[in-house]
Order: sequence, then structure tokens, then C-alpha cells
Amino acid sequence: MSAPIVEIRHLLQHVGQTVTLRGWVRNARTSKIRFIELRDGSGYVQCVCGPNDAEPESYERAGKLTQECAITVTGTVQTHPRSGAPELLVKSLDLVGDSVDYPITPKEHGTAFLMEHRHLWLRSKRQWAILRIRHTLVKAIRDFFDGDGFTLLDAPILTPSACEGTSTLFGTPYFDEGTAYLSQSGQLYQEPGLAAFGKTYCFGPTFRAEKSKTRRHLTEFWMVEPEMAFAHLDDVMVLGERLVKFMLQRVLEDRQEELKILERDLAPLEQALSATFARMTYTEAVAKLKELGSDINWGEDFGNDDETILMNAMDRPLWVHRFPKVFKAFYMEPDPEDPKLALGADLLAPEGYGEVIGGGERASSLQYLLDQIAHEGLDEKDYKWYLDVRRYGSVPHAGFGLGLERAVAWICKLAHVRETAPYPRMMGTLWP
Ligand code: 4AD
Ligand code: MG
Repeated sequence: MSAPIVEIRHLLQHVGQTVTLRGWVRNARTSKIRFIELRDGSGYVQCVCGPNDAEPESYERAGKLTQECAITVTGTVQTHPRSGAPELLVKSLDLVGDSVDYPITPKEHGTAFLMEHRHLWLRSKRQWAILRIRHTLVKAIRDFFDGDGFTLLDAPILTPSACEGTSTLFGTPYFDEGTAYLSQSGQLYQEPGLAAFGKTYCFGPTFRAEKSKTRRHLTEFWMVEPEMAFAHLDDVMVLGERLVKFMLQRVLEDRQEELKILERDLAPLEQALSATFARMTYTEAVAKLKELGSDINWGEDFGNDDETILMNAMDRPLWVHRFPKVFKAFYMEPDPEDPKLALGADLLAPEGYGEVIGGGERASSLQYLLDQIAHEGLDEKDYKWYLDVRRYGSVPHAGFGLGLERAVAWICKLAHVRETAPYPRMMGTLWP
């Protein structure tokens, strides 16, 4: 009689029963008793194979297992006497797929080597934990907006014009229309949607031909972009804070095991969840940065180092708002109290992480936008469709973009965003 096939994550429900597991050998230690660390994608378990309990042929096979070979194994589920964790007492074991000279061994490997073997590196425990947290965050983001009355309005990836400036566009030939550009942001497509749906969001890949090799920049990343009609700058900060707290709560509830594998200190995440996020104007932030030793001048955008020193000094996320218009995108609403300023808001993550959200209130005046487009040297006819939002029932509106990989990097406390995407794309990285 064959035993039921069970996923490792469900083992505790089968204590005392005979079950079959299917997976890959992470590690096998052979002495008289053979200890096999098995993983099946749903979790990890130790299988114990002794000469008295296992069939002789299976016992023999268990002595020859290599790293990452695939097996099925049948035995009795028991709990570890001290830790209470489930283990499998092996009766029989079969080899499904051999694995010879698996390249990623338990010794230390350099990053370049691991990145070239990303397709195998995914099997490592840390990568498993990070990508499971990423999945949980994606689901949390969708649940948050779906539960809050936002309509999903997918934005195109092939686009005719720039959203965030022309310097970081990837172009590709597009039939008789000339060049299409990979979308930098779905925002321009959300704004027209407001007059149809009131509140919308898109969540998908976006592209920037960023020539920067930093720990924060990818050339392809996922961004969630909500947009709200009849909304102002303050609504952006309120919504962004609710979203980030929802994401934190979900990870803290559902991904304890993964956070533990990453040895993540939970206190800063719990602090961010319970605290009210801090707020500072750009002008206040520049003063603070100077105090902290930065050589930034008013009117300059924050560099990575500025964000790091500012956010090393904060115990909670920080909204920086009202930026100099000069370095912000053409579509931003000017501050009625100071036309040098744009009504933008960025959320910076603590522990030195920096910007995870960028957004703000959008200009709702047609004439102002026409002037901005001319001023930036953009082609007005590329934006005619976008400007129609201002021609027919223009209303104040606002929204933001949250970069998924930046959020994962902070929540998992990673040194670099490259580990936050299954197959990261950066300058110099296109394979595998
Ligand atoms: O600040 P950004 O450029 O804002 C926009 O694109 C707006 N149109 C969004 C909107 O208002 N709908 O980008 C938003 C976020 C950043 O805060 C960051 O988290 C992420 O996208 N991001 C990147 N993440 C990884 N690699 C890059 N090169 C990124 N560039 C931006
Ligand atoms: Mg930004």
C-alpha cells in the first residue's frame, strides 16, 4: 500500500503516520545513521535513515546521496524530542534525478559566480526565504488595493513617450511607428483612468536604462502605482503609510520562518509598524543633512549617500515632501505657497535604505502642463492624449509609485537589490 504524498509544510499534521515526501537533498551526512536534509519548495525537514528502520537497499542508497539530487522518501513522521520540529524516520528511499558536481557548494562563493548561477542559486535557503517574502508582499499589495476600492488598470509596457524624463529609456523598433520605449512608469496611463474609475492602480514591470551601479538600482523592476481622483499631496502620504504598514503586518504574520532564516531583527519593522511615519519638507531635510555632515546644497536632489545618512538617523520611515521643482518631473503640481516647489512626496525607509516610494499631486491645469512640456523640451504631440485628462473634467488628483524590490530589500535587510528579484536585471547583468 502506498503512503500519501505530503508537502513538508504540512508534516506536523501527520505525526505518527507514514507519508511520502518528494524533494531535493540539500545536505546528506553519512555515519551509521544517515541524516538527510530534504527540501521540497514548501519547507525543509530532516530525514533520519538508520539500518534498523530502513529497507537495506534504501539504507544503501541513502549513503550515496549527492547535493541536490532528487528523491522520494517514505517513512514515519515524528517530532524531534527537543525542538518539537517534525522529522521523517525513513523506511524507503528512491532516487528520481541524479546530481553530479552541483556547482554551488556549502563553501563561500563570490557574488559574480552566484549571479551567473542564479537559476541554481534560487535553491539556496536565503534566496528561498527572500523570494517567498517577495511573493507575500506582492499578494499583500494586491489585497490592499483590491480591498480599498481601487480598480486594477494595467498599463502598457510598450509606450510611445517618456514619463520620468528621456535619459533612461530603453527603445525597441516598432513596425512603421518608429521606436517604442519600455515603460518607465504606468502613471500617465492611470491618470486618464481616474475619470472612468475614480481610484486605480497598476502593478507590473517598469524599465530604466540606469547607468548606475548601486545597491538600489535595477534596470527592470516592479512598481505598484495607485492614483486617486479628487486627492491632494496629503492623501498620498496617508495612503502610502497605510499600504506600507499593511505590507509589514502581512510579512510579520505570515513569514516568520523566512525572516528567521534571514536572521532579520524584527524590532525595527515592528517599530515602523506601530509608529506614525515622520514628515519633513525637503528644505528641513537639507538642513538636517547638513547637520549630519552632508555637503548637499538646497536645490540638489538627494544622492544615495544623503538618503543613507538621513535614514541611519531615523527610527521609522520618513516622508520628505515639497521638493524644488527643478529636479522633479514635468507633471507635478506646483506648491501654491511657493512656486519654486513641487507638491511631491517620497517615502524613505529607515536603517539606511532610502527611497521606496515616489509620488505626489499632479498638475491639473492644462496651460501649466503645456508650459512645462515646452520648458522640458518634450514634444507636445506625444502628450496630447495625456493632456485630454485636463481638457475634459480636470480634477485635482494624486498618486505614487512603490518599488517592490526596494521594499523587499529593506524588509529583508539585504545589502543589495539584486537578491530581491528572481532574475535581476542590472547594467552588466542580462544572463541567465
Ligand atoms: O520616484 P519614481 O521615479 O516615480 C515614478 O516613476 C512615478 N511616476 C510614480 C508615480 O507617481 N506613479 O519611482 C518610484 C519608485 C521609487 O521610489 C523606487 O522605489 C522605485 O520606483 N524605483 C526603482 N527601483 C529599483 N531600481 C530602479 N532603478 C528604480 N527607480 C525607481
Ligand atoms: Mg523618485
